[in-house]
Amino acid sequence: MTSEHPTPSGPHDLALDPPPGCPAHGRVPGTPARLYGPGAEDLGELYEQLREEYGPVAPVLLHDDLPMWMVLGHAENLQLTRSPSHFTKDTRIWAPQRDGRVRPDHPLMPHIAWQPICAHAEGDEHRRLRGAVTAAMVTIDDRSTRQYIHRAAQTLVNRFCEKGTAELVGQFAEHLPMAVLCQILGMPEEYNDTMVAAARDALKGSETAVASHEYVVGALSRLTSRRRAQPDEDFASHLIADPAGLTDDEVREHLRLVLFAAYEATVNLLSNVLRMILTDPRFLAQLNGGEMTVPEAVEQSLWDEPPFSTIFGYFAKQDTELGGQRIRKGDGLFFAPAPGNVDPRVRPDLSAHMRGNRSHLAFGSGPHECPGQDIGRAIADVGVDALLTRLPDIQLDCDEEELRWTTSIASRHLVELPVHFEPRSQQDVKLRPSHAHVPPQRMVPPMVMEPLPAPSAPPVPTPEPVPQPVAAPPFDASTALPPRRPNAWRRFLAWWRGY
Ligand code: HEM
Repeated sequence: MTSEHPTPSGPHDLALDPPPGCPAHGRVPGTPARLYGPGAEDLGELYEQLREEYGPVAPVLLHDDLPMWMVLGHAENLQLTRSPSHFTKDTRIWAPQRDGRVRPDHPLMPHIAWQPICAHAEGDEHRRLRGAVTAAMVTIDDRSTRQYIHRAAQTLVNRFCEKGTAELVGQFAEHLPMAVLCQILGMPEEYNDTMVAAARDALKGSETAVASHEYVVGALSRLTSRRRAQPDEDFASHLIADPAGLTDDEVREHLRLVLFAAYEATVNLLSNVLRMILTDPRFLAQLNGGEMTVPEAVEQSLWDEPPFSTIFGYFAKQDTELGGQRIRKGDGLFFAPAPGNVDPRVRPDLSAHMRGNRSHLAFGSGPHECPGQDIGRAIADVGVDALLTRLPDIQLDCDEEELRWTTSIASRHLVELPVHFEPRSQQDVKLRPSHAHVPPQRMVPPMVMEPLPAPSAPPVPTPEPVPQPVAAPPFDASTALPPRRPNAWRRFLAWWRGY
């Protein structure tokens, strides 16, 4: 492969690069950058320094100074993901792993450990597993999914609309994707505050993360057995029935992949879009002027703050070249939407509005490109629209500077988004909103709807009734298991999420 881009500091070789300078005194120019510890507090800034120094592909170091490449260029990220003959996602060929340099309790091990899922597979096996996932996904009806998202969003708004204040990350963005994903997968009855708390806890890598993770996987295992015995019209049933003949383990692992990856990404997307709409003068002006649709705001957010900053990883199947760097067989590379999306060669002016342009890297590209992107977009589009329709006067309830994020290599997660608005009555979510249906594209600010009288019993965000499944055991993340010594998976998650 060739590259048209210069490499300011000349080609590097991961195997020959000297170790970086003393961690306490920063990096010696020309050496790989550590993605942890001092100097890695602001990864966005670090990526720009690396771009300046190395060009579109730069050498970096993980814990234990394990070498990787960070792909910073937009074109190079596309080249990486679209070249399955040169790069694979099969972690087993990563050189440090093959050479025994990755200790068994390395914080990254849970991610490095190969799993029998489409995200790690290639070739015929990838086609078999991904084919079953995408075939199950096309059975999801877009219109009814949008209606479901709208109803779930309305139900969440009912929980806080009478108060006049809310915290939108914890009370909205962290709930809506879980309600929708439980419905799509085929276990709407599992959606409740407990499931949301368990998923969040598992992703945070806290003391109770293992118990929380087991709680979520338990629900997915019960769903797998239930649908194997009694199929229905849902994602899990279609996955099981696919001619690819997935085993129960493969079904459960793909449900787990979908639930966690989709949940994490969509929560980040929703939070980011809401924050952007509430704080960014470009958007406030454009929205008030009626020039910007919610879907355009979502697309802009996917450029500026991709829900996954980077993805670990792709691995070279042969000696090759990318962005002017010599890549050796077995080298690992981060697919990196965050720095790729701000590559000055595609975005010379970062303040420019992208006007719905979808050529960002947020959903990846090539054979592993996200198959769930329409669902992710629908949750953000319809969810934000529904919220703004109900609370058109919503405003940030703190100084913008007070907003905080947890940052890791993988993602940035907004911690809280406090808002205030005129208190309003609850609305019957079963009744159609005044503008009749959920439009795929609508202008903001929306029409102000007359609030309906409060229903006799305050609704809680429970999805439509379904036949009762095997009851889930009661769960309390704080007491489910005594705090254990952090295991490798938990330490990895804690480090990855920046906790
Ligand atoms: C805003 C929301 C989402 C974002 C930003 C996102 C982003 C991504 C990215 C970057 C990848 C990896 C691409 C690569 O490795 O090269 C991916 C893979 C994947 N995503 Fe999503 N995703 C989102 C929502 C969803 C949803 C809603 C689902 C399912 C309902 C889903 C299912 C998957 C699956 C199964 C894969 C693995 C595909 C494969 O390896 O072949 N994602 N996603």
